[in-house]
Parts: sequence; C-alpha cells; structure tokens
Amino acid sequence: MQKKLRIGLVFGGRSGEHEISIASAASIMAHLDRNRYEVIPIAITKTGSWLLEMPPAALLAAEQSVEQTASLSTSTAVTLTGDPSLRRLIPVQGGAQLRENGIVDVIFPVLHGTYGEDGTLQGLLAMANVPYVGCDVLGSALGMDKEKMKMLFKTVGLPVVDFLTYRRHEWERSPETILNTIEQSLGYPCFVKPTNLGSSVGINKAHDRTELAHAICVAAEYDRKIIIERNITCRELECAVLGNDEPLASVVGEVLASNEFYDYNAKYINNQSQLIIPADIPQAIAQEVRRQAAQAFLALDLSGLARVDFFLEKETNNVYLNEVNTMPGFTRISMYPKLWEASGLPYTQLLDRLIELALERHTDKQRNRTSL
Ligand SMILES: Nc1ncnc2c1ncn2[C@@H]1O[C@H](COP(=O)(O)OP(=O)(O)O)[C@@H](O)[C@H]1O
Ligand SMILES: [Mg+2]
Repeated sequence: MQKKLRIGLVFGGRSGEHEISIASAASIMAHLDRNRYEVIPIAITKTGSWLLEMPPAALLAAEQSVEQTASLSTSTAVTLTGDPSLRRLIPVQGGAQLRENGIVDVIFPVLHGTYGEDGTLQGLLAMANVPYVGCDVLGSALGMDKEKMKMLFKTVGLPVVDFLTYRRHEWERSPETILNTIEQSLGYPCFVKPTNLGSSVGINKAHDRTELAHAICVAAEYDRKIIIERNITCRELECAVLGNDEPLASVVGEVLASNEFYDYNAKYINNQSQLIIPADIPQAIAQEVRRQAAQAFLALDLSGLARVDFFLEKETNNVYLNEVNTMPGFTRISMYPKLWEASGLPYTQLLDRLIELALERHTDKQRNRTSL
C-alpha cells in the first residue's frame, strides 16, 4: 500500500473571515480521502496562536466558551518555524509529536483574507520549502490588492471599471480636492472600498457627497489605501479556475444578491442570496467570461485555484472583470466547489487535484538553479 500523504490543514486565522475559514476547513476535513491522506488540522486562533491537532469544530467550540478561550493560547500552542533542508515546519514549543516525525507533505491553507490569503503565510511556507496548495506569495498578494490587480488587468487588455485610488494620508490632507475629482470623473453612485480586504467589509455605495465622504472615512479605517469605482448596474457572474501553467475554467455561475449589492450581510448573514449554476446567460458571454477568467489567472501569476468574479452590465451586456479570490469560500455549498461539481469534478476529486497541483508546482520550482 502506498504511504499516505500527510496534509497540514491550516485554518482560522487573524482576519475578519475567521469563522468562514473554520466552515471551509470543516468541509475539507470531512471530504479529504482518508485512503490517501492523513490529515493534521492546524488551527490559528484570532490572536495568532497555532494549535496542532485542533480540528475546526473544536476550535469553534472553544472560541465560543469563555473558560476555554483563555486556555487556548497556552495549552497546545506551537510556533512553527521553517527548516528548508528538511522541507518541514518545526514546532518551537509544544507539538512533540510533530517534532518527532514532523514532515507534513503538503500544507493546505484554508485561510481567507489578511494573514493567509495575502501572501504572508505563503512566504513562511516558501521559506520552509514546504509544498502548499494555492497561489504563491506574488499571486496571493496581487489577488488581495484591488488596485494592483486592476492595473495588471488593464495592461493585458482585460476590461475593468473606471477607478481611482488614494492613500489615507492624501485623503486626510486634502479631502475637498479628492471629493471634487471623484465627482467629476466617476459620478454617483460609486463604490468605496479598502483596497486590501474581502467579504465586502468596509465597502459602501455612495449616492451623494455626504455619503462619499463618510464611505471614504470608513474604508480608511480598514486600510491605508482606498479605491473608488464607478458603479455598474449589473448581474454578478463567477467562474472557477483550476491549474498551474495551463489553467482550466469551469462553467459560469451567477450570484443573486439579496441586498442592494453583495454586502457582508447578503453574503453570510441573511441566507437569502442565491447561487445559480450554470448562469442563465448566452453561450457567447459564458465563453467570454471563461476566457477572461483564465487570462486573469495568468496575468496575476496565480497557481492552484482562484475564483474570478465579473460584472455583466445590464444595459450593454458588457463584461467587466471585478476581482479574483485566491482562497474562495470552500464549504461544499460554496460557489467554487459547486462550479467544479457542475463541470464534472466532484468535491473530493477537486481536493485531490489541488494537492496534486501543489506538489507539481513545488517540484517544478526545485528545478530552478540557485547558484551560478
Ligand atoms: N463597481 C461596482 N459596481 C457595482 N457593484 C459593485 C462594484 N464594486 C463592488 N460592487 C458590489 O460590492 C460587492 C463587493 O465588492 P468586491 O469588490 O467584490 O469586494 P470583496 O473583495 O469584499 O468581495 C460586489 O460583489 C458587488 O455586489
Ligand atoms: Mg467580491
């Protein structure tokens, strides 16, 4: 019998999407093929402690109980550091078991948002020379930064909505000038967002000058860079991409948001938004979306997976690329896995493929010369 691959499933984390990550990880944990893999859950608490052998359900339960939360940061906490020559992460304290026969063959980071989806964790894993699922440092960072992402899309001719960006200090120094510029070039309504966040946190639609000023102040609380976009009256389409150098695009899905836009409440709270798979759109538009999704994936140097999100303008039928998500929601009923299921790749096999892609990329990277 072949030796089982040891998968380190990292989840939780220090972002606002902590709970969503726990839900994604619980689904993945339940569906990884135990004939092929040994799974080691590695939880990261909201304050950043790493807990070995702590499954998603246990973390959630512990965080919901006051007494247990206090013990979380001390009892099983480990700090992991890299040993590049041995291709492993080593617990500095605690985690005796992992220290003794410590190789994790592949890390599967199921973290959404900052300190997980943004390249920081990927940097740690790269330093330790451990193979990991998903995008590398650059792709993850670009996928988080709405400004840099859109700038790159423009350079390869991918359509993005008109936008402006400002640093927080510019806003604080000259708000009147900035408001005037936005009014003249984008008009109302417009969307105001922190550039590096997700889950619609800190995003507002501004309908007049008062709302605009307020929205910029809100976004500036979350990030030092703010992006303002022209509003598109649209349907929202999403496409799942899978692969490394030759990415494949799935069928196209549509999100029917239950609020005026797909805000945090519509995404996670009110349970009334709907996913339509496949989207009821003309074949030619679906083709175009899939083509752009794969092109966007290559433009940002992504690898493994990404969900690519689009606006389909109602009046013109023009397609605009909105953003990529390099670790999209991953419960069984999330858009990314459902799009692959509808494209003929069931959840468990999708997980197999992601692990395969992680190993492939790692092997390919080892081919690079590192000396003269
Ligand atoms: N320019 C825009 N025009 C119309 N709706 C938008 C625009 N930008 C964002 N939205 C709405 O806000 C939601 C969240 O914005 P998005 O840029 O996708 O941020 P996040 O990374 O938080 O998902 C979108 O799904 C859409 O409903
Ligand atoms: Mg989005």
